[in-house]
Amino acid sequence: MKTDLPQSFRRLEYRPPVYTFDQVELDIALNPARTIVKSRIEVLPGKSFEAGAPLVLVGHELEFVSLRINGEAHRHFELTPDLLTIHSLPNAGKDQFILEIICICVPEKNTSLMGLYVSNGNFFTQCEAEGFRKITYFLDRPDVMARYRVTLRALEAECPVLLSNGNLLNTEKLPNGWHSATWEDPFPKPSYLFALVAGKLECIEETITTSSGARKLLQIWVEPHDLQKTRHAMDSLIASIHWDEKRFGLELDLERFMIVAVGDFNMGAMENKGLNIFNTKFVLAQAETATDADFANIESVVAHEYFHNWTGNRVTCQDWFQLSLKEGLTVFRDQEFSADQMGSESGRAVKRIEDVRLLRQLQFPEDAGPMAHPIRPDEYQEINNFYTVTVYEKGSEVVRMYQTLLGKDGFRKGMDLYFKRHDGQAVTCDDFLMAMADANGKDLTQFKHWYSQAGTPRVKVQEHYDAAKKQYLITLSQTCLPSPSQPEKKPFHIPLKMRLITKSNDQVEQLLELTQASQTWSFEEINERPVLSINRNFSAPINLDFEQSEADLLTLFSSDDDPFNRWEAGQKLAMQMILNNRLPDEQLIQAYRELLMDPDLDPAFKELALTLPAESYLYEQCASVDPQQIFTARRAFRREVAKQLQLEWAALYQQMQTPGPFKSDAISAGKRGLKNLALSMLLDANATVWAPLAANQFQTADNMTDRYAALAALVIHGAKEAKQCLIDFYNHFAKDALVIDKWFGLQSSRPPVDGLGSTLSEVMRLREHPAFKLNNPNRVRSVIHSFCLNNPASFHQADGSGYEFWADSVLALDPVNPQIAARLARALDRWRLFAQPYQDKMKDALERVAACSTLSSDVREVVSKALGNEDFRNLGVQ
Ligand code: PHE
Ligand code: ZN
Repeated sequence: MKTDLPQSFRRLEYRPPVYTFDQVELDIALNPARTIVKSRIEVLPGKSFEAGAPLVLVGHELEFVSLRINGEAHRHFELTPDLLTIHSLPNAGKDQFILEIICICVPEKNTSLMGLYVSNGNFFTQCEAEGFRKITYFLDRPDVMARYRVTLRALEAECPVLLSNGNLLNTEKLPNGWHSATWEDPFPKPSYLFALVAGKLECIEETITTSSGARKLLQIWVEPHDLQKTRHAMDSLIASIHWDEKRFGLELDLERFMIVAVGDFNMGAMENKGLNIFNTKFVLAQAETATDADFANIESVVAHEYFHNWTGNRVTCQDWFQLSLKEGLTVFRDQEFSADQMGSESGRAVKRIEDVRLLRQLQFPEDAGPMAHPIRPDEYQEINNFYTVTVYEKGSEVVRMYQTLLGKDGFRKGMDLYFKRHDGQAVTCDDFLMAMADANGKDLTQFKHWYSQAGTPRVKVQEHYDAAKKQYLITLSQTCLPSPSQPEKKPFHIPLKMRLITKSNDQVEQLLELTQASQTWSFEEINERPVLSINRNFSAPINLDFEQSEADLLTLFSSDDDPFNRWEAGQKLAMQMILNNRLPDEQLIQAYRELLMDPDLDPAFKELALTLPAESYLYEQCASVDPQQIFTARRAFRREVAKQLQLEWAALYQQMQTPGPFKSDAISAGKRGLKNLALSMLLDANATVWAPLAANQFQTADNMTDRYAALAALVIHGAKEAKQCLIDFYNHFAKDALVIDKWFGLQSSRPPVDGLGSTLSEVMRLREHPAFKLNNPNRVRSVIHSFCLNNPASFHQADGSGYEFWADSVLALDPVNPQIAARLARALDRWRLFAQPYQDKMKDALERVAACSTLSSDVREVVSKALGNEDFRNLGVQ
């Protein structure tokens, strides 16, 4: 019996729309308890039209009121909870007709934060991917692109500000204290880019001139008390606009561009045409309340959403399987932008290292687990579950590989052709690939496998040096383990940047294109045994299987001219030692010492070089994970680095001070980062001796980076000063939700400390705190997700208590907000990789969640894939 199997959507079942929409007029009377939505739509036959076909619209949780066609009440329709099927269309649907629908939704009851909802008394929408159907009955699919004219009505006292996409046409006073505003978006768009915002908001604004000489109005809308925290977001927006003109020749196409901040939001931000809506976390910043990392994140998210205006909005996706077409490309663009903002070559490397760290910590585990999928998935049950690190971050790596293969100019030619061919269209990843191929006359057929095959390829390196022949050979062989429903893989097209490092420094960087299962290259006239530096700048998102000697790794760590690979060699040395339960030896300590004291290196680079591989990345190197063993080995290694270099840390702590007024530039931020690593190392070496230094920094800091870092050092090392500092911090920032999120998050992500109670008991207490709210995603993430996804050693307890908490939390969250619950549900993805007793305890918890009969499709998909995939059972380990 396969009766209630969840519905799956398949990429190959795509059909163009039967009908399409031209002009859409919406008239929305906003009321938190009962919003009336009237639509008037010009309907036309679509590409799959057949005469007599019914018009099938989707709608979710709507109250249907009425339906008219060409001005007349229409009775021949069927209504189910999800569909409105309209029969007997005029002239069998062959001619354009006017459809008018009235329906009602209830924003104040909407806790899913999809569709129209209320946050702190104001109205917001979120329509990607399938939220528009919670506002009205519609062809809610990205390949139906229509022009929108929107009239918003509301009580003026409640909602003085009324915003929607495009340009403001007019405003009107209405009887009984109501008013209205009418907006028109000149560009056709899919429904997922629709937005409205209404309420008591204020803005800062700027006027700029773009490359063609046009004047543009830029606005950032926030609650009035947050106005003074918008400057950095505005500067980031202006920098993004100029960068896109310069790098890609892409200009802002609207007269007005607005950003709005909202405190209740499922994701980071959303690229609605001309009206981007942001999580407050990615807009609001000032030195006293935001860290350097917050400032950098705001810059990159503002850029990301702005860049979507071309990559996503002007050229959009044919269907949701193509999500990486816009997301991978836009992440690549924001990464390049942020790298360019760093100002120096070594700054660029720092950005690259940070991006790769994220990829390895989050995407590599996803690619090896039960939810593994290609950057273009072939099947999904719930599209919300596919806004993944694979689609975004690996997608960006795939776009980066085009640039590596074609060069920066070749890549630009491909982009130009892509827009020339597809502006105004809804297209596929193949269209993007063909534009790259055709613009450069390069055959990219094999490159397509990056779109269709999941899993992280593994490249084995074998080298051989023949001193007599002065010849150096390398053989590269690629494999990729099976993934769910992909037992076998074809070879990928892998661009590998490499250089032979020799004492005479006589070899240049080259690009090897690995396309076969195995290939050999020979290098002649090599006068000495070289040290191989390969996959430089992480030119391909792969695992390297290369048994390089510790001596060679030390050489690379101290002198590779590719800063990425320099960092990489250090990571590999540390990783091997930790996994073998070793402490750093004298040579490595000496290499660390020299690197830390090198006056030519960026502080930010030093900080990254001395930051150990994350536990989640270490897990992926094991056949059977003992999380407590890995935690203990990693902590012992770190403590040894802390102790052996205590003098250096103390010296750096002084040298990296940034006296004078606070500055947020990359150099100052890098110094603060290294100084705060030094502080944390000092407490690691001897908490009792150094805690007063941290407490002093906490009290005297003039910025959040330093204050938070000091607090974190005290909390993480279990210093007695921590308790009072936490109380002071809370009291001082009680009114600032984003800072209070940090306060919760820090306590939930505290690793185990000898002699202190468990973090889980703290988390249980925090859940009862009056400031904890289950319906605010940022707060939930700061307490629950931080603990379950970001605190492995506290979460993975042998008694299974962490997993019990996880199951309780998923079940509690699911009815409130399925997307946030499903994200949490992913915390047990890799359960099969764990040793006993962890594995069985995780399975019990998964089964308890799966047994709930009322699960959302979001959580259902995640837990059933985690428990299922029997064929894949033993294949997840490398
Ligand atoms: N498209 C948004 C972004 O990247 C992400 C998002 C998806 C936001 C779905 C909300 C809902 O850039
Ligand atoms: Zn995006």
